[in-house]
Amino acid sequence: MASYPDLRLRRLRDLEPLRRMVRETRLSAANFIYPLFVTHGQDVQEPIPPMPGCCQWSLDRLGQEAQEVAALGIPAVLLFGLPAEKDPLGTGAYDPEGIVQEAVRVVKQAAPGLLVITDVCLCEYTDHGHCGIVKKDRVDNDQTLELLARTALSQVNSGADMVAPSAMMDGQVRAIRQALNAAGQHNVPVMGYAAKYASAFYGPFRVAADSAPQFGDRRGYQMDPANVRMAMREIESDIAEGADIVMVKPALAYLDVVREARQKFDHPLAVYNVSGEYSLVKAAASNGWVDEKLITLELLTAMRRAGADIIISYHAKDVARWLREG
Ligand code: PBG
Repeated sequence: MASYPDLRLRRLRDLEPLRRMVRETRLSAANFIYPLFVTHGQDVQEPIPPMPGCCQWSLDRLGQEAQEVAALGIPAVLLFGLPAEKDPLGTGAYDPEGIVQEAVRVVKQAAPGLLVITDVCLCEYTDHGHCGIVKKDRVDNDQTLELLARTALSQVNSGADMVAPSAMMDGQVRAIRQALNAAGQHNVPVMGYAAKYASAFYGPFRVAADSAPQFGDRRGYQMDPANVRMAMREIESDIAEGADIVMVKPALAYLDVVREARQKFDHPLAVYNVSGEYSLVKAAASNGWVDEKLITLELLTAMRRAGADIIISYHAKDVARWLREG
């Protein structure tokens, strides 16, 4: 029976190649999805102040950015759109010539090998900023479903390879799966934002995507951060409705949820390393208070260690470069 002094756990830490050999969790560019924000206009590459390194791109600039992502070995992008106009029904979300629909065409053309995933939600497109149709100051679940299904189908008709519903409406995965099937799109997978919490970590994204609710908040449809058992029910129901990949969002403050989901379900599991998590790291790093590369790799490794197969992250390009440098 080995115990100290025969047992010395430091033996396996002494040499770098040995540490590399016994490493239990790995990060690879192939694990990542890179989010992109697309906007109208010409020659636009508008930096997003709370998210240094991220920009809003106009369609004429988007192709080049997509090629850069692909060249870094990142397999997929997730598209978000800023429409020219907003209205109560979020019409821009399912306009066949909408900003995301056009963006899908541009990316598929510029980087055919890149997987194009589209976010399916109405909040960027509604004037009230909520994720669905508002009736008497509440978001109406069932009326929203039809519009989400229409949105997903129009994105797929533009060439999207996968759709990711994030509105947290009950039945959204089922509504989308049925609409896609009815249109003969049986092979397009759905990645459900299954356990999406009502989180303050989305703050910078709402600046980036101009999608803050104009009244109230999202706690009537997004999950209470205090709940983990309910997250398992959310994931279970997304799977029952036909989700191919499920997600926990945000990532960092919810790694216990990720671990529990990994143990309970065999579906591929994604986490969304959201805007606020990114902003915190960037702000501290720009002050010289933390080492950006080390802290980012540590955080992302923790997400994989907790059980995430896939990480949606604004750090993806930096990480791909760092991993390439070794
Ligand atoms: C749309 C959506 C949001 C995010 C992804 N899809 C915002 C929200 O729910 O308010 C947040 C992503 C991030 O913070 O990086 N509903």
